[in-house]
Amino acid sequence: MSKFGETGPGVPPTLCLRGVELWQSWLSPAEQQAMLAEIRAVAARAPLFVPVTPSGKTMSVRMTAAGRFGWVTDKAGYRYEPHHPDGMDWPPIPPSVLAAWEALSGSARAPECCLVNYYPPGARMGMHQDRDEADFGEPVLSISLGDEALFRIGNATRGGKTESVWLRSGDVLRMAGDARLLFHGIDRVKDGSSALLRDAGRINLTLRVVT
Ligand code: SIN
Ligand code: MN
Repeated sequence: MSKFGETGPGVPPTLCLRGVELWQSWLSPAEQQAMLAEIRAVAARAPLFVPVTPSGKTMSVRMTAAGRFGWVTDKAGYRYEPHHPDGMDWPPIPPSVLAAWEALSGSARAPECCLVNYYPPGARMGMHQDRDEADFGEPVLSISLGDEALFRIGNATRGGKTESVWLRSGDVLRMAGDARLLFHGIDRVKDGSSALLRDAGRINLTLRVVT
């Protein structure tokens, strides 16, 4: 059980757009550095790989994961897998990441996947829904590290009017309840807008209950 019970986080978000909640600067610069070190350790054990969509298109992000499951995509489809494509187990979800889930998810369950998306300069992510999980009553929690990214929020069906917000290093975003299945994507990343990573780029962590 989360310390906030099943009613949601106790700390109000700094911004709410179409029900998507955002806690800006939730992580201090020191906390971001500590989390980055833990994510680098994850990627050292489970290397970033190049995801390919079921239709055969190479995605511009590089991915890995921590937890019981990792989200993968290849010509066989989108799915959660208990092993990295190279065969190893996914490393455990780092403590700093679990602490953010505990504080803000409002979920009574533990996250089963921490997907790590690395955006090299020029990378983006097309509009999509997160719908490969078994229980849409469970939230998606997303943590941004590194360069700023323009996050676009759409509707429960593809198309229609959208709204955008810049996600900055240390921001945490939650999609839950009616906002859980909204289409969303990353239009662009502002290269070099954060000094957290040695080079330009962005890391996004998404935490989910899968089963
Ligand atoms: C995602 O929707 O999978 C990633 C969102 C982000 O990079 O902020
Ligand atoms: Mn998503």
